[in-house]
Amino acid sequence: MSAPTGDIGLIGLAVMGQNLILNMNDKGFNVVCYNRTTSKVDAFLANEAKGTKVQGSHSIQELCSKLKTPRKIILLVKAGPAVDDFIKQLEPYLEKGDIVIDGGNSHYPDSIRRTHELEAKGLLFVGSGVSGGEEGARHGPSLMPGGSPAAWPSIKEIFQKTAAQVNGEPCCDWVGETGAGHYVKMVHNGIEYGDMQLIAEAYDILHRGLGLPEDEIADIFYKWNTGVLDSFLIDITANILKFKDDDGEPLVSKILDQAGQKGTGKWTAINALDAGMPVTLIGEAVFARCLSAIKAERTRASKVISGPQKEAFRGDKQQFIDDLEQALYASKIISYTQGFMLMRETAKELKWNLNYAGIAQMWRGGCIIKSVFLGDITAAYQKNGQLESLLFDDFFNKAVHKAQPGWRRIIAQAVLWGIPTPAFSTALAFFDGYRSEIVPANILQAQRDYFGAHTFKVLPGKENPRLKAGEDIHVNWTGRGGNVSASSYSA
Ligand code: 6PG
Repeated sequence: MSAPTGDIGLIGLAVMGQNLILNMNDKGFNVVCYNRTTSKVDAFLANEAKGTKVQGSHSIQELCSKLKTPRKIILLVKAGPAVDDFIKQLEPYLEKGDIVIDGGNSHYPDSIRRTHELEAKGLLFVGSGVSGGEEGARHGPSLMPGGSPAAWPSIKEIFQKTAAQVNGEPCCDWVGETGAGHYVKMVHNGIEYGDMQLIAEAYDILHRGLGLPEDEIADIFYKWNTGVLDSFLIDITANILKFKDDDGEPLVSKILDQAGQKGTGKWTAINALDAGMPVTLIGEAVFARCLSAIKAERTRASKVISGPQKEAFRGDKQQFIDDLEQALYASKIISYTQGFMLMRETAKELKWNLNYAGIAQMWRGGCIIKSVFLGDITAAYQKNGQLESLLFDDFFNKAVHKAQPGWRRIIAQAVLWGIPTPAFSTALAFFDGYRSEIVPANILQAQRDYFGAHTFKVLPGKENPRLKAGEDIHVNWTGRGGNVSASSYSA
């Protein structure tokens, strides 16, 4: 038998798998592919992969036999049990040091588990975020690999050459141990939900508020795409708004207003709640999709609940559109601030040494949230890798101050119109809370102590013999309850 020539194997010939294979082939790597339905392998080789160096295989054993060691095999199959199933099938044909790479949208706790399970067997595991859809996979995705650190030197060249490049830098670097790659991809997707919701709200304000037709809104978005909002999602939204159905009507005006979701945004929101981090914008973006989904109920409500009388806009239209651009920009800054706060917290808890400048660079190109803005985030973390919050960085601090007046005017106007802006509004509420030394949690603490003797601590500077610094204090608010605090009870 001839010596194996495959640089990397790939299992799963759906759209993403096929495009990633052709991309890796273009970059000079010899790829061996396999698919459970093997006729797909033959069809792929006879059509899309015709004339390339791509090799096919009709069994897992054949796939493994065609790969140079240490074997590297990417799984691009449905996240969940299918990943474990393929790993099990691969194991008998793998040797110590071989690398299994999961490129699906797996939940990061699964990737943590899989890293430990494979390492215990002498194998290496990589859970890699892959973003950018079909187009990205074909011409350069954003790749976010994490898992067994020992795997990185062996896959680095393939991954970095296959990934998108921005200013000569690959949108791919080692993210961290165990589930760090899939974790960062999960947060990417949460941020993706937030960016999409913000754009949808901006469209709603321009369409229902200002009464602009789709074509004009598209032109506004194209203009925004030359400034601070320059990004893939703004660009495709402008294209979407320009797209006409056969009868000349904008196609978007015929799409049912019910959003789907596969769960990665929800995972981010759940993770934020578990971590106790105020990642409010992603949360609202997920809930906005949930509210959109109850269409029948909204339709019934629309018949019996009315809002304010719509008044024609009398202000300066161009000023309003400029304000909206700033509102979107400021809200985006808050969303990314929150996303990076969440990553920092999880990294602390799971002892991952995340490179935040590297993550921003990985998202700078290739992926769904790619934007010029991420270049500024990369610069902020390059200046200070341990930046507590993007709002402490000079560039973003100035940007958010500049945007603030317009941001407030937009939300105020939307409220008067009765147009919901959950993402814009929660961003501003977070901003106002974050910059407040004093928030009304004193009332919450007093209420908790009043009804349940849950105790409170004294505000520094207000200590006295009854209110001692650092102590858990319970006050008998009514003169009726006892003096026993809830926390002092033990069964
Ligand atoms: C990407 C995307 C992708 C995601 C879709 C759909 O980075 O290429 O994040 O991974 O699956 O955007 O997600 P929803 O169905 O949850 O909207």
